[in-house]
Amino acid sequence: MKFIITTPLYYVNDKPHLGSVYTTIICDSIARYKRLTGENVLFITGVDEHGLKIQRTAFEKGISPKDHCDEISDIFQKNWLDWNISFDKFIRTTSSDHEKVVKEFYERVKSSDDIYMGNQKGWYCVGCEEFKDNPENSSTYKCPIHKKNLEWKNETNLFFRLSKYQKSIENLISEPEFIEPKERRNEIVNFVGKGLKDFSISRTNLKWGINVPDEANHTFYVWFDALLGYISAISVGDEKHSLDISVKYGWPADIHLIGKDILRFHAIYWPAMLISAGLKPPKKIIGHGFLTREGQKMGKSLGNVLDPDILVSKYGKEAVRWYLIKDISLGSDGDFQDRRFVDIINNDLANTIGNLLNRTSSMSRKWFENKTPSLINKTNNDISLIAKDTIKNYQDYFDNYKLDKAANEILIYANKINLYLNKKEPWVLIKDENNINEVKLIIYNVLESTRIIGLLLKPILPELSAKILDQLGGSNSSNKTWKQQLDWGLLPDSLELPKPIPIISKLDYE
Ligand code: MSP
Repeated sequence: MKFIITTPLYYVNDKPHLGSVYTTIICDSIARYKRLTGENVLFITGVDEHGLKIQRTAFEKGISPKDHCDEISDIFQKNWLDWNISFDKFIRTTSSDHEKVVKEFYERVKSSDDIYMGNQKGWYCVGCEEFKDNPENSSTYKCPIHKKNLEWKNETNLFFRLSKYQKSIENLISEPEFIEPKERRNEIVNFVGKGLKDFSISRTNLKWGINVPDEANHTFYVWFDALLGYISAISVGDEKHSLDISVKYGWPADIHLIGKDILRFHAIYWPAMLISAGLKPPKKIIGHGFLTREGQKMGKSLGNVLDPDILVSKYGKEAVRWYLIKDISLGSDGDFQDRRFVDIINNDLANTIGNLLNRTSSMSRKWFENKTPSLINKTNNDISLIAKDTIKNYQDYFDNYKLDKAANEILIYANKINLYLNKKEPWVLIKDENNINEVKLIIYNVLESTRIIGLLLKPILPELSAKILDQLGGSNSSNKTWKQQLDWGLLPDSLELPKPIPIISKLDYE
């Protein structure tokens, strides 16, 4: 059984922005966690390359859409590698494999009698690539997301009979697991309650798209094409790639993680299209919130867009990951604040976790010949019980995609261990020889806790986790699964400890 998780397929009108980085980091963290718990994960990301928006962007640059897409698609792939994103498949909707799957899918939907020719009139947002429900003052109305005027369209298009799937979609969204979080689900339930309308799936007068078989001048509507990337990605690499092969390799997806602005496409249109084609809908859609900056919406016109490249070169990717995962509750909107960012990284990572490891390792090296203490009784004690609770809570949170809470659980634990160390004061106890066994136990408990912290950080901050574990003499229980390594007492006694180095540097305010 595969566990399939996807990011949205990002438009290639521009290089990745903080929003796309956010979604991708969350998916990466979930994918890593699932791998650690033994799942056979397929993590899909990619780019959405067709449509009017991309055609226009290329035109404005004075290059062909294909050249433009090649350039930006390369930037996306390189970016994700730089961010250490553990994706398994990167799908481009301009690939011939994808095109073949779109056409096969269309034939299936057509044979379900769900396609007909009709007239599409309405106000269109090119940024969203979506018809809007005729807002008031349509000609002067600006899309709240893109801040641009809508365009009037009046075309003969092919339509998909979405209305036929009213009941099926109602049933699907009534399952509490299908859309998360709850607030997002309510939005969709209200929308569906008003009655679903058929939607157009082809465009005339738009060259930059996949041609609709047997319909001269029609290209597929970019969403009808892009959503299928989730399926075509699964069979890419197999020379026979097709819908059946994708099913054989694991469709349906377990999670589509997306932003709240594209929830309708994923929770309504996409499942209906799939049912029509005789395929299963995805198992879960998680709609995350939007990131703002210092309380304001980010936008080119406001000049406050946070460039992820700059952020990384200034602070490093692990710091950005920690902030985005720990400080924003998945599903809610989140605000990026520079000061808060610096405080959180310094407090959580440099002080609470980094210092704990550093000073305890130094004490152990100083008192026990550069090693972990020898001959102590590692059986359960108060600290191991706290570790056990932490691990349980952390896993419950991760299993329910509450990543912020899982991350916070690590921090709560690290705080407790800091308190324990400060209260026990082994630096005072060591002065009396009779206390040696107690000191050994305290130091062992703290070092073992930092090992547990390092392991728990693995899916969230993979590089920082590796640094922590390296400082503890590396992992010599590698024949054990990650879950087994979480058992208390696996840090060997009398283990050589390397000279401690800070796992993360403190950040300065600019
Ligand atoms: N191409 C479509 C998706 C097709 S999926 C088959 C698309 N692409 S996008 O590049 O415009 O958006 C990608 C994702 O970025 C969306 O999930 C969107 O919600 C997210 N974000 C865009 N701006 C954002 C923020 N400011 N904050 C968080 N996420 C945001 O839509």
